[in-house]
Amino acid sequence: MAVLEGVEKSFQGEPLLRGLDLEARAGEVTVVLGGSGGGKSTTLRILLGLESYDAGSVRLLGREVRDLGRVETRELMMQVGMLFQFGALFDSMTVEENVGFALRHTRGWQRAEIADLVRETLLMVGLKDIQGRYPSELSGGMRKRVALARGIAHNPRLLLVDEPTTGLDPIMADTISELILQMRDRLGVTVLCITHDLGAAFKIADRIAFLYQGRVIESGSPDELRASTHEVVRQFLSGSAHGPIHG
Ligand SMILES: Nc1ncnc2c1ncn2[C@@H]1O[C@H](COP(=O)(O)OP(=O)(O)O)[C@@H](O)[C@H]1O
Ligand SMILES: [Mg+2]
Repeated sequence: MAVLEGVEKSFQGEPLLRGLDLEARAGEVTVVLGGSGGGKSTTLRILLGLESYDAGSVRLLGREVRDLGRVETRELMMQVGMLFQFGALFDSMTVEENVGFALRHTRGWQRAEIADLVRETLLMVGLKDIQGRYPSELSGGMRKRVALARGIAHNPRLLLVDEPTTGLDPIMADTISELILQMRDRLGVTVLCITHDLGAAFKIADRIAFLYQGRVIESGSPDELRASTHEVVRQFLSGSAHGPIHG
């Protein structure tokens, strides 16, 4: 569904990704775990074609991202959903307009069809009768659910998720994690999620890739990661301030 091989990316001569290998397998939740500033969001932006890469291969649904033209990118993105960090809803649009955004703009659907699907999608994330509200009238947890609904409303094959639990209280964070798992199980969507939240990572992941200094230094099932002997992974999992990870 998404494959990165040997991906390198520098900003102003400063290497960020140094040969990143990563794969999101169909029907699974893959979590990229790593510290802040490690290049997780950049990796998602590269997958979305929003950021260039200096070396390596990036394939999304079987297509090399670099080779895609405007129209092809647009078509490919119809099969991809995105849940941005902090939700990133359009403040000037109602919940209905936000959730229906991709349907209106990439599918050209009419208002009545969109309204039905928006209602169903909102129910799937546990929200009812809020279509006419604006994001400013919602709690943080509701905004996140609306953002998730927007990410999946067009029934994508692949859902990319950036820090789904940041800024949420533990119970709401858990709810969002549960919803992501429901999306995998009910819609069969492949999920690639990046996070520094250990709890969320271990709750939702079928596979975890640990990103450190621009590479995946460990990957496997949650149990395999827990059993890692890599010093950096062990330090991260134990939450210790002492060890090879600094800053
Ligand atoms: N557009 C950019 N221009 C310059 N530097 C950038 C840019 N985007 C990211 N970076 C650098 O890459 C680092 C990692 O960014 P990011 O991918 O957001 O990490 P993460 O999501 O893991 O916290 C940032 O701290 C910054 O130094
Ligand atoms: Mg980030």
